[in-house]
Amino acid sequence: MCYAIPGKLVEIKKNIGIVDYFGEKKNVLLDYGNAKVGDYIYAQGGILVNTISKREALEILETWKELFFELKKTDEKLAEIEASPSSKNLLAVLQEVNLNKTLTKDELLYLFALKGKNNLRLLYETANNIRQKTHGNACCVHGILEFSNVCENNCFYCGIRKERKLKRYRMGVSEIIDAAKYACGELGFKALVLQSGEDNWYTEDKLTTIVSAIRKLGVLVFLSIGQRNKTTYKRLYEAGSRAALLRFETSNKEIFETLRPGTTLASRLELIRYLKELGFILATGFISGLPGETSEDVINNILLTKSLKPDMHSFGPFIPAQDTPLKDHATIRPDEMLKTIAISRLIDKDSNILVTTALETLEKEAKRKALLAGANSLMINVTPKAYKNLYRIYDGRVDKDINKNIKETIAILRSLGRAPADLGL
Ligand code: 5AD
Ligand code: SF4
Repeated sequence: MCYAIPGKLVEIKKNIGIVDYFGEKKNVLLDYGNAKVGDYIYAQGGILVNTISKREALEILETWKELFFELKKTDEKLAEIEASPSSKNLLAVLQEVNLNKTLTKDELLYLFALKGKNNLRLLYETANNIRQKTHGNACCVHGILEFSNVCENNCFYCGIRKERKLKRYRMGVSEIIDAAKYACGELGFKALVLQSGEDNWYTEDKLTTIVSAIRKLGVLVFLSIGQRNKTTYKRLYEAGSRAALLRFETSNKEIFETLRPGTTLASRLELIRYLKELGFILATGFISGLPGETSEDVINNILLTKSLKPDMHSFGPFIPAQDTPLKDHATIRPDEMLKTIAISRLIDKDSNILVTTALETLEKEAKRKALLAGANSLMINVTPKAYKNLYRIYDGRVDKDINKNIKETIAILRSLGRAPADLGL
């Protein structure tokens, strides 16, 4: 099964390749390998990750041919704006978005405070319309493998913090590589997120072995391993990883330093900026609903995310975890997350926006609702059954069988007219 459509490389300009997908041209970075004009390739996050034989490509494209255009039509229809506004002020703000004006903080706060079915519908529809115009119907579907729930930190909000009594696991190096082979081979993922707590048992050497082996599978290796040394990240980039997920968690320095003892917002931001400088595809963002947070903090979080120039926004709701200092702190309402998604889309048209599993825990219909409010990326958990339930960063995580989850996700994407593919930059 495939989550990305192969395209044909039709032109090369320096290190940029122009790829044809059923007549639609996209740019991809020719970062590794030596693909030639005429080759069929897979791209992830705008980077060429693999070439495949013409025979295999044509076979896949044959099955996609009609569906590709059908899906596009469905998406275009669903992206039309139908809601009738009940507020002149809202219309005026959305008009500024259409004119590519930068919204003021007051305007962003106004959008975040928006109420009423019609107004919210208009906000979400506008965000979805922008998503459709800027990204078309492509939707990244990355696999995520949680390879260790050991963490040396004690973040107050997190269910795998060091002090929590919890059964811990570490997947061995070859066990991780085998799980990646299954996810990328059998299940067909073209991008794999490797996630863990901050666990120095995985030395630079071990991580390098893992990254090089998975890179050889012809997929995008996406790191989510927390704050490690700059030199470690540099080596992992050289070993073939091209994407990194590191949230700054909150833009509020006081909240950050209270909830993440022993760490500073400044050093986290410095590392995030460094990852971007190294050339990683960058995913970053925050947790919404931490204690003490105001609406202004949420808007600051959205603005800080944008200022880091991420390729992907990754933010999700705080959900309490047992035996942690924040076990009794309430979570936020799903519509606040949907508003956050829509506002992020209005102010950062080009970036990808992820629907997080935490949102799916809060709201059963999260994927559909979020994809219709400006989001365009998903992750599917491919952690082996034996470990999945132990990666308890928060309580009540949706635990679906991998194959069932893939099936349901594809069904949702089809019904929304989205192609589970990454069609490049
Ligand atoms: N609720 C939601 N997200 C959480 N994370 C950690 N703890 C929680 C929680 N209780 C998120 C953090 C971290 C990511 C791996 O998980 O944002 O960066
Ligand atoms: Fe560790 Fe990250 Fe959890 Fe903090 S949020 S305890 S760094 S896994």
